[in-house]
Amino acid sequence: MRYSDEIIEEVRDRTDIVDLISGYVKLQRKGSSFFGLCPFHNEKTGSFSVSPNKQMYYCFGCGAGGNAYTFLMQYENYSFQEAIQFLADRAGIRLPEEDHSKEAKERADRRAVLLQIQKETAEYYVHKLLSPAGTAALQYLHSRDLTDLTIRRFGLGYSDKYSNDLYRYLKEKQYADEILRDSGLFHYDEKHGFSDKFWNRVMFPIMDANSRVIGFGGRVMGDAKPKYLNSPETVIFDKSRNLYGLHVARRTKERQMIICEGYMDVIAMHQAGFTNAVASLGTALTEQQCSLLARFTKEVLVIYDMDDAGIRAARRGIPLLKNAGISARVVDLRPHKDPDEFIRAEGKEAFQERLDKAENGFLFLVRLDERDYDLEDPGGKTAFLHHLAGMLLEIPDEIERSTYLDTCARLYRTDPEMIRKEVGRRSLQGTGRRIPDTPRSLRLRRDPADRRQTDKGQKLMLTWLVNYPELIHTLSDVLRPEDFTNPLCREVAEKLWKQAGNGGINPAAILDMFPDEEDQAEVASMFHTELKFEKSGDKKIAFFDVLCRMKREGLELRSAALDPADLNGFTALAEERRKLEAMQRSGPPADWFPEGAEEKM
Ligand code: CTP
Ligand code: MN
Repeated sequence: MRYSDEIIEEVRDRTDIVDLISGYVKLQRKGSSFFGLCPFHNEKTGSFSVSPNKQMYYCFGCGAGGNAYTFLMQYENYSFQEAIQFLADRAGIRLPEEDHSKEAKERADRRAVLLQIQKETAEYYVHKLLSPAGTAALQYLHSRDLTDLTIRRFGLGYSDKYSNDLYRYLKEKQYADEILRDSGLFHYDEKHGFSDKFWNRVMFPIMDANSRVIGFGGRVMGDAKPKYLNSPETVIFDKSRNLYGLHVARRTKERQMIICEGYMDVIAMHQAGFTNAVASLGTALTEQQCSLLARFTKEVLVIYDMDDAGIRAARRGIPLLKNAGISARVVDLRPHKDPDEFIRAEGKEAFQERLDKAENGFLFLVRLDERDYDLEDPGGKTAFLHHLAGMLLEIPDEIERSTYLDTCARLYRTDPEMIRKEVGRRSLQGTGRRIPDTPRSLRLRRDPADRRQTDKGQKLMLTWLVNYPELIHTLSDVLRPEDFTNPLCREVAEKLWKQAGNGGINPAAILDMFPDEEDQAEVASMFHTELKFEKSGDKKIAFFDVLCRMKREGLELRSAALDPADLNGFTALAEERRKLEAMQRSGPPADWFPEGAEEKM
């Protein structure tokens, strides 16, 4: 739901960003700001700064920046919804309810009870594992090389040999049969009543991205079948929308995530330090899981068993990932079956080497399909190259397509121009599938080189205005938001002017007006640059320089865009040019920066 600007602002106002970030990063005061090691990239010296005055953070090393909301969205990978919920809870503010209808409220209450049941069950299983009844189960987990720390971290447990002890336990806690029936934890029939679904198994609680238990997987401790038993889907457990291990992996600093098949694989990888591993829940990767992943990463390492089922899963998964804006690489662990076995047999360094050697997803698919053709036979090779052209056609980005085309041509010793022609022919015929739109996050938003300098001047100007907001009034005759030609700068300027007119600027609030994360970081960087001068005279000259340059560039742009027949336009422009020249001659007015005035920020 969309919260009002007032509530968004209230929650932010009642949050102290220094206090919030101190919970994650050790901060030290230096002057008016706090500094620490950046949580968004690996570094040894602290270039991460938090400003209590601006209520913003910015990293001079990697450029990450924003306000309290952005911090949680970047660090915890929260959605805005989750971030505002978190900060509201923290500040003791009640957010307006989404929907006041009675049914909606009942639904929400029911979900809350179902979540509570899963949580209590997880605790019960943990308790059982650590009790005498759990000795064999604990031994089993140890025999699979899991440490006590890992067992605790993943909340592993044990379901007892009794057929209804969990049921009795939850009944003691006063849960009604009616809701227990929907928890997925029991078998129920009219004649025999309730019996526990999980029975003499080691238990893996499945958490959603926010660390709430939503279901379980249970493994037999020997060779009995079925090896794993899983919670059925319930109101709170949607397998297609969750990934095992994501609640931990979401915090990774790694650029990529690892996706594998098994519970044990995720746990073994985490224990070996690969804390960016998640598993699809015993099913093929779904579209929703891919878009969930896309919130956290742009690159995924796929590790599926190299048996038929695993290969089929990879073949289906790679294009799904791609459509979500994620590029996939495929890790080959042969001769071992899965990450757990590999790490036990060869250790984590060897595992890392395999990750480093992961094959590009597209080439993996090409090599798979290649097996269906006899490349020694001219007919077979021709058919394969036609097939290859079809695959290339599905790569929407032209540069990427061309790069793969060249790589494949080299790989299969054939003339790239010939394939290029074939791809071109097919694309004209429209025989390829509809090419999906490039996801917004992948679109590059770069300006041509000649515009960068202009942009720099405008950004610098905004930095000045945020540092010395009184300039907005002082300059009202000289500078207006329209003078900013860079669209992002113009938007920021308009917002600054509006705030200045309404009694004072609030940089953190401006950030919230930019939903796009890239824009936010860019705006944060403008606001966070510090301008330091020995004497206020230097300051005046430096600012004057920025102002004149910006005005000059603005006039040049306008004159270039002017219709030659527009006489009035010419006259207006000439007038402004004259004014600018006069200003340049007379130098910065004395009253721009009141002598001795404290810097606002
Ligand atoms: N799985 C399942 N039900 C089964 C078998 C498998 O839900 N009967 C799911 C589980 O999530 C399991 C994954 O598929 O983790 C991979 O299965 P498999 O490769 O057979 O097992 P491993 O993960 O290797 O399990 P282990 O190492 O414990 O034998
Ligand atoms: Mn295994």
